[in-house]
Amino acid sequence: MHRIAVIPGDGIGPEVIREGLKVLKAVSNKRGFKYELKHYDLGGGRYLKTGETLPDNILEELKGFSAIYLGAVGHPEVAPGILERGLLLRIRFELDQYINLRPVKLYRSADCPLKDKTPDDVDFVVVRENTEGLYIGSGGFLRKGTPQEVAIQEMVNTRMGVERCVRYAFELTKKRNKAKKLLFCGKTNVLNYAHDLWMRVFKEVAREYPEITTDYAHVDATCMWMVKNPESFDVIVTDNMFGDIITDLGAMIQGGMGVAAGGNINPEGVSMFEPIGGSAPKYAGKNVANPLAAIGACVMMLDYLGETRAAREAEEAVKKVISTRLKGLGAGKMGATTQEVGDMIVEEIGKT
Ligand code: IPM
Ligand code: MN
Repeated sequence: MHRIAVIPGDGIGPEVIREGLKVLKAVSNKRGFKYELKHYDLGGGRYLKTGETLPDNILEELKGFSAIYLGAVGHPEVAPGILERGLLLRIRFELDQYINLRPVKLYRSADCPLKDKTPDDVDFVVVRENTEGLYIGSGGFLRKGTPQEVAIQEMVNTRMGVERCVRYAFELTKKRNKAKKLLFCGKTNVLNYAHDLWMRVFKEVAREYPEITTDYAHVDATCMWMVKNPESFDVIVTDNMFGDIITDLGAMIQGGMGVAAGGNINPEGVSMFEPIGGSAPKYAGKNVANPLAAIGACVMMLDYLGETRAAREAEEAVKKVISTRLKGLGAGKMGATTQEVGDMIVEEIGKT
């Protein structure tokens, strides 16, 4: 029995998660596995009512689930950073979800803004460190509000944190069994302490994986190559901040935020799966958002829970629906509503 905590969250979160849960139900009926859901009302709505972002007792409860399924966090009436740090980053950090795994996969050539690129060309994974770097929220102001103000934002990289992320990336590259290429994306020419550590760890761990080809690119060049030659990537390992940035670019080349999914992974603990696109308040409640990113996150969760046949069937259904039934992948551009897209996926699952 899989116990899943559901946090629909803000904006389009509840609508797209609803479709993901529809798909979960369809594959579980078909494959005969059991699961139990517990919904948590967290996000901007709760914060505005009660001032709470993530009460301690809920955080403790979350540690007892098989997985967490999250919609989106971010509310136009809440100052930036409060929900992000108080809810999303707090779960990532407290549950030690040290890997943020973000596949970049194109399903249909027409959805890629890059000329002549096909699904064979855009199929790689970003392994983003998820608990350190510039995200730790350490620093401070000096003389705030004066012309002499100083703002310090500290970037922390630990040997342990870097090594476990790099090791995860090597193992994944081995398992993916594609080109067996792992690229470290950093900025060694400027971040001469932080990425010096990363580079030393990367080279050291590489010695244990002679079958894997390793490479390095600066983050700015990585952005250039992602547009020019996305087919050159198999797995990319990078720090928290760069991983955040390059996966939005990755989302665009795979067809947009509407299809980009991710997993916050603690290989030894509780992991959390989410569409990476955010709450998109302007589309909220309109039944126009693309639920495929949320459904893709559900597919990743199924894989993680060991329901691999169910995951493959759901993924095949996604491919089928994109290639045969949708006009586009952007919000309001699919030629179908959020709910209809979810129904189409369920229908395809029923056919196989
Ligand atoms: C993401 C988001 C978050 C991040 C924000 C909401 C804090 O952009 O999951 O990529 O920067 O990690
Ligand atoms: Mn982001």
